[in-house]
Amino acid sequence: MADLSVKYMGLNLKSPLIVGSCGLTNSVKNITDIANRGAGAVVLKSIFEEQIHIEADNLMKSDSAGAKEWDKAYNEILEQMPHAFQEAEQYIANFAKENTLIDYLSFITEVKKAVKIPVIASINCVSHYDWAFFARRIEKAGADAIELNVYSLPSDCRVEGSSYENELFEIVKEVKKFVTIPISLKIGYYFSGLSNTIKKLSESGIQALVLFNKPYNSDIDIDKITITAAPVETEGRDYLNTLRWIAIMSGQVSCNLSASTGVSNVNVAIKQLLAGATTFQVVSALYKQEISVISQILEELSAWMDKHQFKTIDQFRGMLNKKDSEIASTFERVQFMKHFSKIE
Ligand SMILES: Cc1cc2nc3c(=O)[nH]c(=O)nc-3n(C[C@H](O)[C@H](O)[C@H](O)COP(=O)(O)O)c2cc1C
Repeated sequence: MADLSVKYMGLNLKSPLIVGSCGLTNSVKNITDIANRGAGAVVLKSIFEEQIHIEADNLMKSDSAGAKEWDKAYNEILEQMPHAFQEAEQYIANFAKENTLIDYLSFITEVKKAVKIPVIASINCVSHYDWAFFARRIEKAGADAIELNVYSLPSDCRVEGSSYENELFEIVKEVKKFVTIPISLKIGYYFSGLSNTIKKLSESGIQALVLFNKPYNSDIDIDKITITAAPVETEGRDYLNTLRWIAIMSGQVSCNLSASTGVSNVNVAIKQLLAGATTFQVVSALYKQEISVISQILEELSAWMDKHQFKTIDQFRGMLNKKDSEIASTFERVQFMKHFSKIE
């Protein structure tokens, strides 16, 4: 019987299948089902950096109940970190921000009581300003790790590519001040030097990189002549971009890689592991099929391993990675010339 367990971000996972952050990971009932089906870990629905900012303003205007909660949190943190944070007024503002996020914190605690698998909280952010303190509350609520979904589209042509990249390092630096639990970064692929950025990020003290975030896409309705939202769920070959970059980077990074986007069946999952991913994240497949797709993928993965006589994931993980990035680019160039020159 194949052993599906893996170590991801220093956490012991019973399988490499992680249910990624989405609406389905917003309820204890679903997460219990997800855990019972064999998922190795779950990433909770994200809270937004903006949410933390907005709720701070609300709390500032709020009544005594909110103020009481705020006082409690404020005193707790001051007790823990007496030297690091001298600017009390700033912290008062900061701690105020967590009040209406109390529900998220309670949810983490509730999920932790309900399941044994690692629970990864998620914050969707674009900047390092003024929200990272909340990560400490997430750790205190019991989360095993934090995934930072850094969602920024480098669409402002006045801004240098390096500014967007630097922001990621600033975010990691800020959050690391507040937590001791492992941190992963879920990133997009719009960087001026993607492989260089991935490598440097992997050395920034995080435990994993999730490749990749799926950007929100707009579409156009030509009848109404309006802009519409493209479907959020992935399909068919959407996994190929992730597969390429996992294969190129897995032999070169100093942290784990988790493959995300388009992992809709066991074949794609196996490809991502062969390319060098430590785990793979599944979301759209759960929406399109059912939560039972988790056990199906894991049973089929186990059968494939038995067939190929692999007893552990590590025996084949990364077997087909691209060990040398220079060779990888030459190889791709040659393949491109070979294949496209045949098409007339
Ligand atoms: C309905 C829905 C909600 C999502 N919500 C979040 C979220 O809160 N935070 C996040 O980091 N990603 C979110 N995602 C993105 C997924 O975690 C994942 O990165 C993306 O769907 C690609 O993976 P897939 O191909 O398995 O769907 C969401 C995706 C869907 C479809």
